[in-house]
Amino acid sequence: MPYTAIVGLQWGDEGKGKVIDYLAKNYDAVVRFQGGANAGHTVYVNGKKFSFHILPSGLLREDVVGIIGPGVVIDPESFKNEVEGLYPHVGDLKGRLFVDPRVHIVMPYHKLEDALFEAHSEKPIGTTKRGIGPANRDKYARLGIRIGDIMRPSYLKEHINRAYDFNKRIVESYGENFFDKNELWDLLMEFAEYVKPFVADTVLLLEDFEKSGARILLEGAQGTYLDVSFGTYPFVTSSHTISGGATVGSGIAPWKIRRVIGVFKAYTTRVGEGPFPTEEISEIGERMKEEGGEFGTTTGRARRCGWLDIPLIHYASIINGITDLFVTKVDVLEKIGIYRAAVEYKLFGERISFPPAYSEDWYHLEPVYKDYPSWEEMINEIEGILKVGVRFVSTGKDREEVIERKGG
Ligand code: IMP
Repeated sequence: MPYTAIVGLQWGDEGKGKVIDYLAKNYDAVVRFQGGANAGHTVYVNGKKFSFHILPSGLLREDVVGIIGPGVVIDPESFKNEVEGLYPHVGDLKGRLFVDPRVHIVMPYHKLEDALFEAHSEKPIGTTKRGIGPANRDKYARLGIRIGDIMRPSYLKEHINRAYDFNKRIVESYGENFFDKNELWDLLMEFAEYVKPFVADTVLLLEDFEKSGARILLEGAQGTYLDVSFGTYPFVTSSHTISGGATVGSGIAPWKIRRVIGVFKAYTTRVGEGPFPTEEISEIGERMKEEGGEFGTTTGRARRCGWLDIPLIHYASIINGITDLFVTKVDVLEKIGIYRAAVEYKLFGERISFPPAYSEDWYHLEPVYKDYPSWEEMINEIEGILKVGVRFVSTGKDREEVIERKGG
């Protein structure tokens, strides 16, 4: 079967952009299945940096088709900016990029609400303020506006009206002015015109690809511990970032995904609030940040840094059913010269091998560390514990800086 899913095993920023771009040379299509413009996937080609937020990362390979599946929420501004930004490098994406009519639209009020919730919360999540949470909330509250709705404007007023009162009340409760209905209508109509050439039923498109023997990558955004069910709730995103999310977010049956590649960084980072057992608040942590360029692609925020956490990626490997591992940024550890990883935790005096399913317990975890003479030794240990091979090692930013390990 043609599908390979790529997922992050930590808190996002594992280097999935580079991984997708690297693997895409052997694939025909790349599908985004969840998240939205909160993602920041970076690809370096010949020293030039490309940042993807809403478009699939494989599009720099000119024969690869990009698909935005039904599980994604789309920000009109981000979509337009990225399509235009890529134009000088890959030309017109019409005929090579497809958006499903079931994709929900991130409305301007979603972004405003995201910012208001965060600003007024006693315990903010540290979101990207891209409106992702409120857009997914409206999706589940049956108040969303979808790409298909703006393609059929005769019904659009009804959809705007349904969402309008609820969102207006929220925004006004913070003492802010709400948007004018005509303004929202105009914005949606303008976007309808822009997005129209890209809209297609991506289920049927994928069915045709499958029949023609195409190979397809499913591009996960964020990471396992930001999954709305399995992550460090409530410090999570609002979608399913795990491999299971790939099926509901793209309309592909679970049994068709035969390979799930788990991406992890040779150390750990996290943006925003929430527990982080191996966080290294020290000069070494600062060095990881500097050497690894650990600043958010989407928000520019500095990422919190710490050691690799093997129980964390082990548990993630179970949730995702990982078949192959792809480790990134070993070059950063090489520069620091310490190969350290947590191999267990202590929790209330007991030794445990997996992170807890109880949110509050995360704050009491004490990592038990082990040092290795090299990253190769560290990887061997990971393979022994997870019982999954590390097939790929990324040793630098650029596209081709990857070691493929045969026996891994
Ligand atoms: P939201 O997805 O913007 O609602 O943010 C929720 C949490 O997920 C915050 O901690 C964000 O920093 C984090 N987050 C969202 N997208 C990414 C990403 O692509 N990489 C890393 N963290 C992310």
